[in-house]
Amino acid sequence: MGERWTPKTWRDLPIQQVPAYPDAAALEAVEAQIASFPPLVFAGEARKLKAALARVAAGEAFLLQGGDCAESFDEHSADNIRDFFRVFLQMAMVLTFAGGSPVVKVGRIAGQFAKPRSSPSETIEGVSLPSYRGDIVNGLDFSAEARTPDPRRQLKAYRQSAATLNLLRAFATGGYANLENAHRWMLGFVKDSPQSSRYQDVASRMSDALDFMRAIGINPETHQEVRTTDFYTSHEALLLGYEEALTRVDSTSGDWYATSGHMLWIGDRTRQPDHAHVEYARGIRNPIGLKCGPSMDADGLIRLIDRLNPGDEAGRLSLICRFGADKVGDHLPGLIRAVAREGRTVTWVCDPMHGNTIAAGGYKTRPFDRVMQEIEGFFGVHRAEGTIAGGIHLEMTGKDVTECTGGARALTADDLSDRYHTYCDPRLNAEQALEVAFRTAELVKRERAEIERPHLDAAE
Ligand code: PEP
Ligand code: CO
Repeated sequence: MGERWTPKTWRDLPIQQVPAYPDAAALEAVEAQIASFPPLVFAGEARKLKAALARVAAGEAFLLQGGDCAESFDEHSADNIRDFFRVFLQMAMVLTFAGGSPVVKVGRIAGQFAKPRSSPSETIEGVSLPSYRGDIVNGLDFSAEARTPDPRRQLKAYRQSAATLNLLRAFATGGYANLENAHRWMLGFVKDSPQSSRYQDVASRMSDALDFMRAIGINPETHQEVRTTDFYTSHEALLLGYEEALTRVDSTSGDWYATSGHMLWIGDRTRQPDHAHVEYARGIRNPIGLKCGPSMDADGLIRLIDRLNPGDEAGRLSLICRFGADKVGDHLPGLIRAVAREGRTVTWVCDPMHGNTIAAGGYKTRPFDRVMQEIEGFFGVHRAEGTIAGGIHLEMTGKDVTECTGGARALTADDLSDRYHTYCDPRLNAEQALEVAFRTAELVKRERAEIERPHLDAAE
């Protein structure tokens, strides 16, 4: 700590998950070009998200983070962005209303392109090619041409991120995201769901609340809070040359910020404390996520916290836990106790996707019940430890895909081939994602009812 940091000090350290670009000069030229492009987000927005995540850590708000495992160039369309945003807003509304908590909304979007892989190459019928590392690096097709890393893809990823963010900002602030629209979409979901009766009660109470608000003159036309929403972007900070090129000094504070997205996280495969990815992340002032899988132990976690949040700033560090439904009870308590013992402030988040991937019917999938079990386990451990289950982190889409089994329509392994479209990991479809929101809202409500809030007394 205290060592000199610049956006490029990561280059002097060991690094994992680096694409083998054949032409170093071409890569350098692209990075120089991106360094001259405008930032995608502003430091002030990242600070606002950090403050919101500090409230999540304190149990005063709940984090909903989600989106594609990997965004793709081919599926970049207004329809896809709109469908994702609509479902995401409905989920946030359900969590706000039924969970009784403000919701901080963070998409895995407008920059979630680079993927870590378990193996640098893939072999099919005796042919070995570089693994697919996300559209920002190479193509998914199994051909030498597609799989050769091409730096020009970074320019395309930047432009796609800018266009996606532009539409999201328009949706969030232009009236489309208003509460009455989100409510109407949600009613459509409840009507069509095989679990309709389970959600009916919440839906009609929400209708009553909105009718009441309208009756007393609170509606999208009169009140900005009902008309607009805060929406933030996030992605894994994996491709560090690209991140470095978009790391800028904030003129207000003089601090460095990543401007490729509001929140960046470090993946479970690149979190070695003395390696490049942690080095990069420690110097930017954005809120940072750290994926914690089963190989994370308490000492290792504290070392990483020392490195990433030496000043113990609330909202700076979110620990995104992804142990697996059957492991969360074994791994989480030790980490929570170590953090408490050291008196550190972190935001605890549950990623119920990455520890629950299995193979079925020739596909990678995730059983819906395992996803819910991990979320329930996560809340259960926090209840037992007296700490805050702050949020969930999902891989999801607004489309009706068949990638995860289970859910209200009880998708089976045989159904997976119908609409299996993901570029990387299996995502919850729109219905499954909303189901997760309804069920998580019940857990949030119970947790919030149990939290003592001394600051309320202090304010009286
Ligand atoms: C991801 O979030 O898509 C991912 C690769 O996760 P993890 O680093 O937790 O495996
Ligand atoms: Co994934």
